Amino acid sequence: MMPTMSQVYLDGKFLPPEQARVSVFDRGFIFGDGVYEVIPVFGGRLFRLPHHLARLEASLAAIRLRNPHTVQEWKTIFTRLMAEHGTSDQSIYLQITRGVAPRDHAFPPNAIPTVFAYALPLKYPPAEQLMQGVTAVTSADIRWQRCDIKAIALLANALLRQQAIEQGAVEAILVRDGVITEGAASNIFIVSGDRLVTPPKGPYILPGITRDLVVEIARANKIACEEKPVGIEALRTADEVWLTSSTKEILPITRIDGRPVGAGKPGPMHARMFALYKEYKQAFIQGKVE
Ligand code: PDD
Repeated sequence: MMPTMSQVYLDGKFLPPEQARVSVFDRGFIFGDGVYEVIPVFGGRLFRLPHHLARLEASLAAIRLRNPHTVQEWKTIFTRLMAEHGTSDQSIYLQITRGVAPRDHAFPPNAIPTVFAYALPLKYPPAEQLMQGVTAVTSADIRWQRCDIKAIALLANALLRQQAIEQGAVEAILVRDGVITEGAASNIFIVSGDRLVTPPKGPYILPGITRDLVVEIARANKIACEEKPVGIEALRTADEVWLTSSTKEILPITRIDGRPVGAGKPGPMHARMFALYKEYKQAFIQGKVE
């Protein structure tokens, strides 16, 4: 089933989704040659927009594509897409590919990037997942060495997520060289005592916008938070484990590989951080923070 929306944005036009067509020779389709962003919208405002646009810029630079729009142009596109869903919480999906060209791995000299975006209502994790936490499994991180690029080529992520689901879990926690990197579509935090730890940024993880906000909130509230490698043993013995993403926010993981995390239920640090996060979000909706 297609998500409900009456208009999507494609290459300068707003169209009903069934009229939005992309060539079979688009390099996004042929090579997965493109990048994307997912931007949440709360109370009609684009949450952490400068951070998302900065990450988009970094992803584009990494694959050597020019940003096809100015910040103002992006805002105009997003505002029109958001209008469809009123003030309800939603997310904007946008992707830019290297455009249409005869199939050849080398970059085409004159291709025009394909730009696609749409808005859809945000589907929060069910209340019971927040109350009881979710299950995760660990998996070998089989992805490439530029996971910092928000690339549309998500075959490994999709395989890993699917394997997790087939084992009754919600997320795969990825392990590379004995340390955890991130989830198939999320970042990971562990809590040991009164300290938060999350893997440092680098080529093996996506610099999550929600991750950065959690780190920022922790520091502003004098909660000890370190960005350092998390070994598999630290994961197994953590008091709490969380996943973070723009669409799942901050979700407790209470079972990993069939074993309970800490007491096997969401912990007090999660309750505290989630309350602080919701406070921040409320202040944002009210225009008190940018
Ligand atoms: N994914 N790591 C990976 C591999 C991700 O795909 C995501 C988000 C994150 C979290 O980043 P952020 O906090 O900026 O959402 C980390 C999005 C939501 C997606 O692909 O739908």
